[in-house]
Amino acid sequence: MNTKIDLLRKKQEEALLGGGKARIDSQHKKGKLTARERIHFLMDEGSFEEIGMFVTHRSHDFGLENEQYLGDGVVTGYGTVNGRLVYVFSQDFTVFGGSLSETHAEKICKIMDLAMQNGAPVIGLNDSGGARIQEGVVSLGGYADIFYRNTMASGVIPQLSAIMGPCAGGAVYSPAITDYILMVENTSYMFVTGPNVVKTVTHEEVSSEELGGASTHSTKSGVTHFSCANEIECINHIKQLLSYMPQNCEERAPSISYEPANEVREELNNIIPENANQPYDIREVINNVIDENTFLEVHKNFAENIVVGFARLAGKSIGIVANQPMFLAGVLDNNASTKAARFVRFCDCFNIPLLVFEDVPGFLPGTDQEWNAIITNGAKLLYAFCEATVPRITVITRKAYGGAYDVMNSKHIGADMNYAWPIAEIAVMGAKGAAEIIFKKEIAEATDKDAKWLEKEKQYSDMFANPYRAAERGFIDEVIEPSQTREKLIKAFKMLENKVKNNPKKKHGNIPL
Ligand code: HXC
Repeated sequence: MNTKIDLLRKKQEEALLGGGKARIDSQHKKGKLTARERIHFLMDEGSFEEIGMFVTHRSHDFGLENEQYLGDGVVTGYGTVNGRLVYVFSQDFTVFGGSLSETHAEKICKIMDLAMQNGAPVIGLNDSGGARIQEGVVSLGGYADIFYRNTMASGVIPQLSAIMGPCAGGAVYSPAITDYILMVENTSYMFVTGPNVVKTVTHEEVSSEELGGASTHSTKSGVTHFSCANEIECINHIKQLLSYMPQNCEERAPSISYEPANEVREELNNIIPENANQPYDIREVINNVIDENTFLEVHKNFAENIVVGFARLAGKSIGIVANQPMFLAGVLDNNASTKAARFVRFCDCFNIPLLVFEDVPGFLPGTDQEWNAIITNGAKLLYAFCEATVPRITVITRKAYGGAYDVMNSKHIGADMNYAWPIAEIAVMGAKGAAEIIFKKEIAEATDKDAKWLEKEKQYSDMFANPYRAAERGFIDEVIEPSQTREKLIKAFKMLENKVKNNPKKKHGNIPL
């Protein structure tokens, strides 16, 4: 018996070494952790249970039969993060560059299937040279098996992807289907075709970092939701993200205890400038309304004219979508629309109530916007709000103009409670532009045209640049003092806690992609 146990221990030790000490050292020299070290920092101490430690590849081509590593380049299993079950796969770059073989893919699929059966999140820690080149189509098949499972799991269990090394070629599509991508600065990159191919095809000279590093994808493409300074920060972000999510679509996100207190926030009365054209930081409003220090901003550096993220209100997890007057005056454009639409859909999938802060002058005009399909992209946000059945509340802090008024979670498209601050302006357009159009003739005929324009602007402004016309119609449920906002929202979300709303039965909708 002892010799058998010794054999087992020997094999376990061998597996723990992955591709060997030299390759582990090389991984460390690049400033990267190993697959197992990453799992160690992610999971609660002692909770990780490995599955498939002794799996090896089945390839006999190119001498691969003589090169076997236990585990075949990916560590898979389950454990807990802050006491909650999660499934994890962590690619081991020290074994064939973390490349994906048939068996490597099977290991990932196995834990994805378990995660689906048991209703718990899957976390992928990606660090891979892509398809195992020696295996050819078998490896491609393995990728497709994963993509299929990613898609089936979408909206059922949360799926998070951390990119901690290379992620290139078709391999990028697994993270892309998952709910959130996190990238580590300077050591990770994602692209469909690398710098060499780019140079051959388009004659552009570009580095891996510039083409697909964390900074590029967090600011230019929006592919990644979080850009993290190092791997530990990345792992901590994963833990924080999970804390706002339920285990699966049948559950609610965990709440933390909350002691009712004085919820009046006088500071909110002084954030909005007197001059309606002056910017302010909507994050100040958010932070004064939510529980202290609970805002986790998603997509922070992409489409900054809209702010989205998770927070807690009276201990409960909520998703926030807010126009940002500090950036492009808070207009809706292509990127802001797609960013917010995806966030709204995530929250709706996973029963996370939505809170919208609205201060929007409209959609951004211009050929760039029109030619890049602001019609289709704006429709995505509209569609996402229309179909969302979670509790939905809007607070109009200042401007709500034009089509953007409708889109930003208006009462008409299914919001449950709509509040406005007394300085809100809810109209088809700003008073200046409106006066120019509807009083064009009178202004043209006046001897003092500027005075006439001002007079007409004031007339329109007195009539519409306030929240009361909308409140008269019931489009606004209540005009509130800013300082009352937190209190009102806590009560309203509590009132909506048991909301049941079902959209018409269908196979699935056809969101304008
Ligand atoms: C097999 C691979 C591999 C791969 C790397 N290795 N990529 N083995 N298949 N795809 C091995 C190397 O031979 C080496 O083995 C070890 O991993 C480390 O690789 P290095 O090149 O020494 O490391 P580094 O300099 O850091 O470069 C990493 C790299 C580079 C940029 C990822 O290895 C690379 O370009 N690899 C090929 C990438 C690629 O073209 N993949 C296929 C993409 S197409 P030793 O024994 O020396 O340690 C694809 C399609 C997916 O993925 C489609 C899905 C639909």
